[in-house]
Order: sequence, then structure tokens, then C-alpha cells
Amino acid sequence: MNRNFVINAVEVLRAGGLVAMPTETVYGLGADARNVSALRKIFLAKQRPMNHPLIVHLAEISQLEEWADDISETGLLLAKAYWPGPLTLIFKKAPGVNDLVTGGQETIGLRIPHHPVAQALLQAFGGGIAAPSANRFGRISPTTAKAVYEELGDSVDLILEGGQCSVGVESTIVDVSGKHPTILRPGMITAANIEEVLHSRVIDKPQSAPRVSGSMESHYAPATKIRLIGSDKLKQYLSEYKSSNGAIAVMSFIYVQQSVDLPLEWVSMPRHVEEYAHNLYQVLRELDKKNFQEIVIEEVPETREWDAIRDRLQRASGRG
Ligand code: TXA
Ligand code: MG
Repeated sequence: MNRNFVINAVEVLRAGGLVAMPTETVYGLGADARNVSALRKIFLAKQRPMNHPLIVHLAEISQLEEWADDISETGLLLAKAYWPGPLTLIFKKAPGVNDLVTGGQETIGLRIPHHPVAQALLQAFGGGIAAPSANRFGRISPTTAKAVYEELGDSVDLILEGGQCSVGVESTIVDVSGKHPTILRPGMITAANIEEVLHSRVIDKPQSAPRVSGSMESHYAPATKIRLIGSDKLKQYLSEYKSSNGAIAVMSFIYVQQSVDLPLEWVSMPRHVEEYAHNLYQVLRELDKKNFQEIVIEEVPETREWDAIRDRLQRASGRG
């Protein structure tokens, strides 16, 4: 890692600019969480509604009290177990946290990321960095520095290179501000992982339930239409697909026979959930550039460890 880049990035943050930083989940679009004009730039660059709250990233647990109040025992247990890592915790906010960070709510989302470049930046900066995923609102989160540039171009003052994100999907969000810990967004730290630490059930929003509009991003969607199909129906769908309708891409576990008649690009998806997550957004982003008629995706298992992937696929297909 080049230390000079981190020093430059700290200068940009102190001057109220935007720095895209790699984290182990996805790249974030960072600004000084105490600087109102810098925070405004995030919303402008992303074209994100101003009432959507931002996650504040910290270097270490000792900073927690600067941002959160009434820190719950469950919150502390989860922080100690999974920070630094792909987990965001929702606490009651401390006094003085700006409304642009919280979306005007009484709570705040906090996370200590694990990625070495994010860690170096946070340590050197010393304060909280507010950072949503570094994509235009509603689009796929970027998992490479190049993807950040494709999404946001020159509206970012500096993009830190950190390679392809290892986890590949956004952090698990657990609300620990109330009586019962609740998963607001599934991620690669699963409900089972949370329960192992808490020794109690966590409220795990049923994926089919309608979400309150505006409380979360509605979709993580490419421009190309996404069609989710169960394994049992995939072969039939493809055999009946009329090639005159245009070329399609297929992302599946099962092997798809490449027929000469069917203009089809097949991407074999890993059966291992961590590998699937690592590849997902990068595959979608590359396929999205090729103007397929649609991207057909084989549904993933119904088990809890696939919750995050199922959630993102459903949102991408508009069924979230
Ligand atoms: O992995 C991640 O979480 C990435 C990296 C950059 O850390 N960040 C990310 O941020 O995904 P964003 O803004 O794209 O998604 C954060 C989600 C939003 O849906 C937001 O509504 C929710 O977190 N959120 C943030 N603060 C909240 C709060 N106080 N209460 C409820 N939801 C909150
Ligand atoms: Mg996002």
C-alpha cells in the first residue's frame, strides 16, 4: 500500500472533499462525517434522496461513544465479535450527530471495516468517515476501483485502489438500538452467526415481506432486465426461448448446453456462497455492459447462509 495516497486522501477529507475507499464488502464514497458541506456532496454525487441515512466508518471501538449513545450489551457483544468486519450496527445516536448522517432519525449506523486501505485511511484521518456504497443511487455497488470510476466519474476527488473486494456484497446491518436485535439487511455475516454470539434468536425479516419504502435502497439493479428462475424450470425456459428475441446471458449453477440456435453467454456460478458473493456484482456489471435482452439467473438455495444473495438477486430483479 502506498502511504502517500493515504496522506493525500486525508488531506482531501479534511478539505471537505470526497474519497472513494475500498472496504472488504464494497467500495464506499467517503466524506468527513462532521462536515455538512462534504456530506451534501455525497448525496449530489450519488443522486441519493437526502433522507437516506449514511453509515459512519470508524477505525476502532474506542471511538464508539463519540457517535452512539445508550450502547446496548447486544451491540457491544456483536461489535467485539465481528469488528473489524462486514457488519454495520444501528445504535441510538450521540448528541451532535448531523441529520444528514442519520436521515433525521434518532439512530446511527456504525461500522469498523477490515480492509487494510480503509483501516489505514481511518487511522490516519482519526475521525468518522460517512460512506455509502460508491454507486449511483439504486445501481449495483462497485467492487473494484474501476467500477467506482464508471459509476461516479470525476465527481469523486480521489479513488483509492484496493483491489477487488473480498466479500463482494454489502455489510449485514443489525439494529441493536431497540429491545430485540433485528437484521435490517442480510449480509455474509448470517443470522446464525449473530445468534451464535448472542445466544438468542435475532429478528430476521422475512424476505418476502414488503419493505417500508424509503427505509432501504429499493434495488441493487443493473440496467438489463434480470429474470430469476428456479433450477427445475431453467432448461425449459431456455429451450422455449426464441432466439429472434435477442441474445441473453445465463448465470447458473447447472450447466447449460450451448445450443447453436440460442445466442447465449453462460456464466458458471460457484456453489460456494462466499465465492458466489465475491463474484456476483462483478459478473452482473460486466454482463450489463453487453446489452443482452435479459440476464437469466438460477435461483439460489433457500437456506439462511444464502439470505444475502437471495435478497440482492430479488432486489435486482425488482422483486425485492
Ligand atoms: O458494506 C457496506 O455497508 C457499504 C460499505 C461502503 O461500508 N456501505 C453501504 O452503504 O452499503 P449504503 O449507504 O449503500 O447502504 C447503507 C444502508 C442504507 O440502506 C441505509 O438506509 C441503512 O444502511 N442505514 C444507515 N443508517 C441507518 C440507520 N440509522 N437506521 C436504519 N438504516 C440505516
Ligand atoms: Mg448502497
